Amino acid sequence: MRRPRSVRDADVAGKRVLVRADLNVPLEDGRVADDTRIRAALPTLELLLERGAAEIAVCSHLGRPQGPDPAFAIAPVAVRLRELLPDPRVRVLENTRFNPGETKNDPEFARELAAGMDVYVDDAFGSAHRAHSSTVGVAALLPAYAGLLLEQELEMLGRLLGEVERPFVLVAGGAKVEDKLSVLQHLGGRADTVLVGGKMAAELAAQAPREGVHVELPVDVVAAAAFERDAESVVVPAAAVPDGWLGLDIGPETCGRFGEVIRGAKTVFWNGPLGVFEWPAFAAGTKAVAQAVADVDGYTVVGGGDSVRALQELGLADRVSWVSTGGGASLELLEGKELPGVAAIPEA
Ligand code: 3PG
Ligand code: MG
Repeated sequence: MRRPRSVRDADVAGKRVLVRADLNVPLEDGRVADDTRIRAALPTLELLLERGAAEIAVCSHLGRPQGPDPAFAIAPVAVRLRELLPDPRVRVLENTRFNPGETKNDPEFARELAAGMDVYVDDAFGSAHRAHSSTVGVAALLPAYAGLLLEQELEMLGRLLGEVERPFVLVAGGAKVEDKLSVLQHLGGRADTVLVGGKMAAELAAQAPREGVHVELPVDVVAAAAFERDAESVVVPAAAVPDGWLGLDIGPETCGRFGEVIRGAKTVFWNGPLGVFEWPAFAAGTKAVAQAVADVDGYTVVGGGDSVRALQELGLADRVSWVSTGGGASLELLEGKELPGVAAIPEA
């Protein structure tokens, strides 16, 4: 795999450094609900401070706003970062997606970000699959380096692309189905078994099975009358969800089956919750999978904001080999694609 040059080799003393981090964290009631990604950005920021950077401007997107939108203001993230790293040299720029140019890799917005800065450090592994102004555009305007998190993600996920101990089980769930479907179909070829839950299962069930990929779909689901926290729910066979009802979690039989397959694995990659785990009535599937992954005696990697949050809430994050801060990015990397955010940094 291509290695981008490292922030460890950058001369930052007295410099103004623009850092792109992925601080796209879940919010609840105006507060950061899970700060994993913020904590993961700290080592690079601490290194820059230690090495005498004069000023650090941290930028990130938050959510998918279509322009300025108070619901996606970066303030709660900035507050949390300041609590964790109270250094006056660090400031957080407003949500990059408030500028409609960001997602189009608009050079004008890239120039705005780069203005007054001397060095660019990309530590946003979770956004490395996006060719945006803040991930790719600025890298052409300033001397660009990979942050410590970005480097470590490439190393730990990269291991799944080499010789892995088998069985290799891939577990996929979550929303953002449109991002993941094609990726999953490619990646599935490397795994011995692909377990699919969540919204993805319904989409895959409707497609012809792929040759050579052993995909297992839920046999039963927890179906709800409405997409609501306290909706009336029943366990039904996956093929017998009543008209107008929604499958909001995998059912108990599927939990048992998936758990058994996962515990028998030597290598596991898990991306995306199996149900709406933020709602207790639909959390069992994700919990069962999290527990099974934690029980594996082998190399286990979990990626994607929601699955990571589930692991944290269950106190299981320490029991997996690597908790990736990337969801879509980790999937695309494992598909063998070159990530634009990585490609934009000169090679080591
Ligand atoms: C993520 O959470 O997957 C990353 O932060 C990227 O977000 P995006 O899918 O909205 O680009
Ligand atoms: Mg994503």
